[in-house]
Order: sequence, then C-alpha cells, then structure tokens
Amino acid sequence: MMKRLSALWLLMICMTGYAQQKHIVPGSVWHDTAGNPVNAHGGGILYYNGVYYWYGEIKKGVTWKVPNSNWENYRVNAGGVSCYTSRDLLHWTYKGVALPSVTTDSTADLHISKVIERPKVIYNKKTGKFVMWMHIDSQDYSYARSGVAVSDKPEGPFRYIGSVRPNGNMARDMTIFQDDNGKAYHFYSSEENQTMHICELTDDYLSHTTNDHRILIQQAREAPAVCKYNNRFYLFSSGCTGWSPNAASYATADNIMGQWTEHGNPCKGTDADSTYHAQSTYVLPVQGKKDTYIFMADRWNKLNLEASRYIWLPLAFDQEGKPAILWKDKWEVKN
Ligand code: DGJ
Repeated sequence: MMKRLSALWLLMICMTGYAQQKHIVPGSVWHDTAGNPVNAHGGGILYYNGVYYWYGEIKKGVTWKVPNSNWENYRVNAGGVSCYTSRDLLHWTYKGVALPSVTTDSTADLHISKVIERPKVIYNKKTGKFVMWMHIDSQDYSYARSGVAVSDKPEGPFRYIGSVRPNGNMARDMTIFQDDNGKAYHFYSSEENQTMHICELTDDYLSHTTNDHRILIQQAREAPAVCKYNNRFYLFSSGCTGWSPNAASYATADNIMGQWTEHGNPCKGTDADSTYHAQSTYVLPVQGKKDTYIFMADRWNKLNLEASRYIWLPLAFDQEGKPAILWKDKWEVKN
C-alpha cells in the first residue's frame, strides 16, 4: 500500500512538474506534455498560424560505431523526422512522426540504414504546401545529398519526393532560410565539407535554381543556422569534428548571395570554445517579440545518441549588430 502511495506521489510530482515548467533549462532532459523526452535532434522550427512546430531527427535505440570507419562514425538506425507543437516554446506536444523511415526497401533514401539529418520545414504561401528539406546520406556519408518531402499539413504526414546533389554538388549539413520576400535559400556544407554553398530554391521550394553561390571557401564549416537582423544576414556554424563539439563562429552578409565575412565566436565565457558542449542547428526568431532570437543547438552524446540534449540560449545583438550567445542555467522566453 505504502509503495503504491509513494509511486502515486512521485507520479503527481512529475506531472505537476511538467505542467508548471517555467524555464528552459539548457542541457536537461526536456519532457513533452506527455512526460516523454523530446526526441527531435538537429532540428528546426516553423511558425505557422500561431503555433510553433519543432521538427527533428528521431534518435532511438542502440548507438553503434560503423565498423572500419576511421572517424567517430557513431549512429542509430535512422528513425525519421518527429514533430512537436507549442504556443509558448516551453511546453511541447508530440504530434507523431512527420516523415517515417523505411524498414523494407534497403535501397530507399529513408531506409533505417541511411542517414536522415537536420530536417527543416518551411511553408510555401503560393502552393499552400509545407516543404521539408533534409540531409540524406549513406552510412559512410559518401552519398551526400539533400532530400525533399512535401505535405498539406504542418504536422505531416510528409510525402518523400527524392534526393538531389544540388547543381551536382555534394550536400551534407544544411539549413533552409526563408527571407521576408518569400524567397528561400538552401545553405549546405559541400565539397567534402570544406566549402559552404547557398542556393536559391525555386518558387515552389521543391528544387534548386542555378543561383548557387560558394561561401566560407575552404573554411570547413558545418551545422549552419541562419537569421536576419536589421537587414543583415547572420550565419552561425561549427567546425567539422564529427559528434564532438568545437567553437562556433558566425559570418555576416548584407546581401544573402553576396560577400560573407567571418567574425569569430559569438559564445562568451566558460565553455564558449565548445559552444557549451553543443553544435548549432537553428536560430529561431520569437514571434511578436522584436529582435528576440533563440540559438538552438544539440549537445550530442555520441555513445548514446538518444540521450543527446538540447541547448537553447538567447541570442542577443548589441548596437553595432554584434551577436552574443551567453550561457544560462535556466531562463524564460518572454512571449
Ligand atoms: C556532424 C554533423 O553536424 C551532424 O549532423 C552529424 O552528421 C555528425 N557530424 C556525424 O558525425
């Protein structure tokens, strides 16, 4: 009886805990509204009709190292892409698998043996469709392609269309940036991860135009995350060290297809040199709050990828437009 009562007590404490969660606590286990850890890695966020949609890689089950790889090629079976919704950026409700992986056809891009990483979704006003782009790869990362899927609803299910090497180029880590004028751009690590590319997407966002521009040439940057502040474009990225963290850096441009200039690390203080043990994935403009941005990153646990955590921190700009990402043990998004 006593045992049952304490179990009930514990359950109540946990449930109240979820309901009353007031802060973002970077690096802690982030529970969804059902009490399960949020499983949405390498993610990105879409804001649509008053709701935030968080899409990310489902990392579930055993982590193993791909045999005979001379780098830290740890992986789990590709689990597809999850979707969570929130109105306050704190309480997230699981909406299910937006794009499932495939268990049967081992040649399929979405087969569990493949790599499905860094999904990003944008909404196309002209077509009324939600478009998801993601990094698709083989286990040894030699496939180096970008996959695209489409849906009529933000939570999916998304229909996978296929994958490409944009304009014939290798494409690994990526993000999508949608500008205020509706134009969308694909940022992707290319040329064996040595050089970043930006390619303008077609009006329906489903393919690449030939307006494809090389930036950060031979600077070996990945994990791109982009935002626009005061009419200037900011690109945050990491170095290429597998799942291990390294120092972030940011670049700016006044014209997205123009000259990009590197400026160095936006993180400050203890652990700034490892991006607080994390790697960028997205910059989220908070809706209705001018100049309020969240820097989203993944704290990978390479030996147990499912136990990787999220580092969300405020991204602030000073009067000269210089960004700073400072560590916070816990903080509140003021909506
Ligand atoms: C770094 C990338 O940013 C991740 O998305 C993932 O591809 C790992 N490398 C794999 O080692």
